[in-house]
Parts: sequence; C-alpha cells; structure tokens
Amino acid sequence: MADSFKIDFQAHGKVESGDLIVFVGENLKPADAVGKQLGRKAVDLIARAAAAESFKGKAKSAMSIVVPEGLPVDRLIVVGTGGEKDGKDMDFVQLGGLIAGKVNGKLATAILDLPGVEVTPDAVADMALGAQLRRYSFDRYKTKKKDEDDKSGGRLVFRVADPAAAKKAYKAREGVQQGVILARDLVNEPPNVLGPEEFAARAQSLTKLGVEVEILDDKAMKKLGMGALLGVAQGSVRPGRVAIMRWNGGRANDKPIAFVGKGVVFDTGGISIKPGAGMEDMKGDMAGAACVVGLMHALASRKAKANVVGAIGLVENMPDGNAQRPGDIVTTMSGQTIEIINTDAEGRLVLADVLWYVQDRFKPKFMIDLATLTGAIMVALAQEYAGLFSNNDELAERLIAVGKATGERVWRMPLGPEFDKMIESKFADMKNSAGRFGGSSTAAALLQRFVNDVPWAHLDIAGTAMGSPHNEINKGWSSGWGVRLLDRLVREHYEAR
Ligand code: BES
Ligand code: MN
Ligand code: ZN
Repeated sequence: MADSFKIDFQAHGKVESGDLIVFVGENLKPADAVGKQLGRKAVDLIARAAAAESFKGKAKSAMSIVVPEGLPVDRLIVVGTGGEKDGKDMDFVQLGGLIAGKVNGKLATAILDLPGVEVTPDAVADMALGAQLRRYSFDRYKTKKKDEDDKSGGRLVFRVADPAAAKKAYKAREGVQQGVILARDLVNEPPNVLGPEEFAARAQSLTKLGVEVEILDDKAMKKLGMGALLGVAQGSVRPGRVAIMRWNGGRANDKPIAFVGKGVVFDTGGISIKPGAGMEDMKGDMAGAACVVGLMHALASRKAKANVVGAIGLVENMPDGNAQRPGDIVTTMSGQTIEIINTDAEGRLVLADVLWYVQDRFKPKFMIDLATLTGAIMVALAQEYAGLFSNNDELAERLIAVGKATGERVWRMPLGPEFDKMIESKFADMKNSAGRFGGSSTAAALLQRFVNDVPWAHLDIAGTAMGSPHNEINKGWSSGWGVRLLDRLVREHYEAR
C-alpha cells in the first residue's frame, strides 16, 4: 500500500542528474571531499544562497537551490548538520525523513559524507528507514488520486564509503520498516473492514514468515473461562478472537518474552456510550494489537535470535440488547471477579484475560502490554510520551533507554497499593473503573492483578499511537508507535549471540 522509494547504495562518484543532497555544518561548508567534488564555485554558491535564505546550517534545517549554476543537477538540497553537540546525538532516522520530505523528482542522490559526523553503515540504514517511513501514506480508499499523490517509483541513491556494508545493514532494517508500516496500515483501516476476525486473519498471515499462529474462537475462550474478554465482545454481532503468534528464533529451552496488545477494533464505549464528536478515532483502539503484529513481523523478518510470543485480544465494544451493563459482574480466566462500573473501561477487561493466559501458559521472562487504554494518559503526558507502568525496575529502565534511542519515548508513572485500593469493589474482587482521579494508574493497577509476579510493563499508548504530533518520519494519523522501540529492546537485550 505504502508508497516507497527504490533505495540504492553506491560508492562516491559523479552525480549528473536529479536532486543532489549535501550536508553542511554551521560554517556552511560541506565535508572536504564533498567540497572538492562540487568545486569552489558550488561551495561559494551555497554560501551566497544561505545568506539570501537566512540558512544557518542548523540541525534539522535545509534549503534548496534550483538549477544550481555550474552543476548538472536540477536542485541542490543543502541540509544542516548543526554544531558539534548535534553531530554527537544525531537522529539518523529523523534525518532520513527530512531528506525524503525535500526531494520531489524521480531521482535524488545524497552524498553521505557529513562534516564532523561519523556515518556508520547502521546510520545509513537508519536514514533509509526514516526516508521510507516519511514516504508512507494511507490512500487505499481514495479513488480520485491527484498527481502529487503519486509518490511511487522515486529513486533515492545514497553515496557512501562502503555500499556493501550499508546494504547489509539496511536489509536488517527492512523488516522493521515493514513492521511499522503494517502497524500503521492496521490502525488506519476503517472498522467496517477490520473486525476481530479480519484482524485475526492479518495476524495469521505472518505464518508466511515462519511465525506460528493460533486463533482462539468463542468456544475456545469460553472453555478457558475468559469471561472478561467475552463480556466486552458480547455486545457486537462480530465475535471476539484472541490471536497468539510465536516466533521461535532462540534456543530451544529459553523462556520466551511476551508482548500483549489491546485490540478493540472499535470502541463506542458500549452502554456507557461515548459522545459522538471524534468517535471515529476509536477505530484506532486496536493500536496496541497492531504494534504487536508489526513487531512480530519485524522480528521474524530479520530472524531475531529470540523466542517471542505475541498475543492480542480482539473485540468490538458495542451497545446492544445483548451488551454488558454497568453493574454486571464477570469472572475472569484467573478466577477473580470484576464489577463493571463503566462499560467504556473495556480495554483492561480484555487485557486481564490475555495477560493471565500468557503468563499461565508460557511462563515468559517478561510481559509487555501495549494499549490505547486511557484518555487520562494524554491529560498527564500529552502525545509525546507513552505512559510506562512496571513492577520491574530493570525492564522499566531498559524501556526508557531504548525510548530515548529511538525517539519513541516513555515516561514512568506510578503503581502502588494506593491505586490498587482505589479499585476495590462493594460486590466483586475489583471494579473496572475508579473514576477520574489517577485514571491511568488505576487502570494499570487492575492489569497488575493479572500478571502474577512475572516482570511486566504496561505501555499506555492512547496519546502516541494515533493523531500524535507529526515529525520527519510521520505525517499521517497513525504512527506505528512501538514497533521500533520494542524491536530495539529485543535486539539490545534479549537476543542470543
Ligand atoms: N479506548 C479508550 C481510551 C482512549 C481515549 C484511547 C482516547 C484513545 C483516545 C478507553 O477504552 C476508554 O474509553 N477509557 C476511558 C476509561 C474510563 C471510562 C474509566 C477513558 O479514558 O475515559
Ligand atoms: Mn473505552
Ligand atoms: Zn478502549
């Protein structure tokens, strides 16, 4: 679906047509070798154009010189690399996105020789990844395409010191790229197209990458006693599903790591129905599940040396004659009972059964769940950080660190007996809503009752997964948040070497 570049890696040499991209520091000078290649006149031209455009070579800035005199190319795109500090913590994924946003012809060539900045093969691969993510758009349902919408067929050439090494590094990134795009596509799909069964079928198609996939239907879930998940599903004519994906790339006896996703394909709120304004956004209430599918795609594509379980709870939350009511009490697979106070607090009900199932069956090293769980997390963190809740400091610290490295940042929020107490119920073991105060923490406290001392982290992605602020690699509605974060977590900490 997504438009993409055809990307090539080539050794340094003459560039004779299309867009040419070069990098300059705050002194407006390219790296020495690039200066030589362009010639004195072109370097002077950059300085003159910079003065005219007030371009200062700052990081994250760029200017274009159209039909540059003395050069055979159509445009010279000059990208700033900023000062020394900018060079040290350069985000190459975002930089690749920035470049992709500037080119518009059929061919663009970037000379990846940056003044004062080391560009490793991994950095080149990151730039290629960023460029492709920037190129993404979701236009499957637009029948009248405008000319400027056609972004297919563009070629992007990276001129690098070691093309073979860059190519190899990019090959290892391509799975992540496809995983992010898969997650974005799933979140963008309309809810009439993507019900629980259709979503499960998309998960099932990972079998072609060597992922083992099992689908639990109504009957299987009843047998397991997943009363909380089934309680949410019962208001919809489309039955719920659980999909379990397994990638066994690690040693045979290694305990798996597990990822669990909230997959509410549409959240009307149920009988506690939501107001109409903006309700269409609730097609994205399956972003946690989409991330897990995208992540499994990424890990399997690059044959990650780890045993990984991905489990997603797929339901539709609808108001109906058969829908559950406030006041209902459901029995979860764990045996614990939950009083329904608000049928719109449905995500935690779905996750309660899936988390319990995963820890019970797989005895994982850890579990991380992702869920568009609460509006309250946006009140606390806006849309820049996902909320992180964890019973394990090591896992939490690792997530914070890979968050900084990928730009998919998380902020740790409190769990504890105070919040646990707030979900006590008059009639059951707990209630599913404790009102407005600490809404994200009380939701997490409920989940914690179903993790049974397994190291666990919960990521509340209600703010980051959709409608989040645009950046150089995301100009759409769904961001595919979490795929790059968790792929990196696995890569850095959980793969056999
Ligand atoms: N899916 C929503 C949370 C949400 C809101 C995600 C906005 C993305 C954007 C969740 O199921 C929900 O409705 N939560 C309620 C909980 C409340 C009833 C305790 C909320 O946040 O208002
Ligand atoms: Mn809800
Ligand atoms: Zn929801």
